Amino acid sequence: MTRHRLATASALLACSLALVAAAGSRWERVPAKDHARANPMAGQPGAAAAGELVYRDHCLACHKADARGDGRKRPSLRSDGLRKASDGDIEWFLRQGDLAHGMPSWSSLPAAQRWQVVAYLKSIQ
Ligand code: HEC
Repeated sequence: MTRHRLATASALLACSLALVAAAGSRWERVPAKDHARANPMAGQPGAAAAGELVYRDHCLACHKADARGDGRKRPSLRSDGLRKASDGDIEWFLRQGDLAHGMPSWSSLPAAQRWQVVAYLKSIQ
């Protein structure tokens, strides 16, 4: 293989790797340290109920009262993805949001409220 061909082949390989990474689910993109983070509210009585109130205030308008989304762009939050995601995955995503696709960032909410809403989401799977 000439040097040029080798360069082309490795450029193609890099491109396809990048595509595979982009196609990966959002939960696969969570940094390991965030993925492993435990919910400080786990096991606290009332955490999920408090999270339900946070949900009503901030999430219900888009994800709907039953958390099944609007059947269009706002996804259901009762899903395989949410069942499999760790608490840390979900809390990370809430901080990031995905503004380009219409999901706001919740980094300005107090951390305790983010973890409560994570407890709520886990409780309804
Ligand atoms: C303005 C509408 C809107 C509000 C308010 C909103 N979301 Fe979202 N949410 C979205 C959209 C749109 C997506 C899909 C984004 C995408 O496709 O990347 C999403 C995605 C998600 C996901 C990822 C679901 C998955 O399976 O990939 C979670 C979890 C989530 N939202 C939780 C919440 C929580 C918790 C709140 C309240 C704190 C909230 N959202 C408030 C619009 C909203």
